[in-house]
Amino acid sequence: MQHLHVHRYERLWLTAGLVMLVFFIAVLATSAIVDGFVPPSRTQTIDPTKVSATPPFDHPGLHQIGPGQYEAYYVGRIFSWDPASITVPVGSHVTFYLTSSDVMHGFSIPETGVNASVTPGWVQSVSHTFTKPGTFLVLCNEYCGSGHQFMSAKVIVQ
Ligand code: CUA
Repeated sequence: MQHLHVHRYERLWLTAGLVMLVFFIAVLATSAIVDGFVPPSRTQTIDPTKVSATPPFDHPGLHQIGPGQYEAYYVGRIFSWDPASITVPVGSHVTFYLTSSDVMHGFSIPETGVNASVTPGWVQSVSHTFTKPGTFLVLCNEYCGSGHQFMSAKVIVQ
């Protein structure tokens, strides 16, 4: 009887674990389908002390790569994003490439689900399709010092 009891208890935990795993995968899959949201991935390394001399981050900003397709290169530094503002047409698919020249920052566009940590030494990328016009605020959501709350930029969709 004792053995059966333990067995049942373990099976319960296994089941609960599996249910949670399936649930999280479902949440991820749903957000990927609903928002066209690709999980942030660290794609390459960069010397954080030479960001301003390393292409393409020596000229941060927006580049059109095809019809409705853009790449935006951002450098985070205390306490600003460079570029401070970009403008794209409605329907644009933008891939953001992000790096930091000092400490860790967080690149967040609250209305879109874009949320990526920006770590010195790494290039982070995250994509989003802007289907609605408006001015979208880019915030820093990783505490980076006394001016953290002023660290913002704009994505204008028109
Ligand atoms: Cu940058 Cu907080």
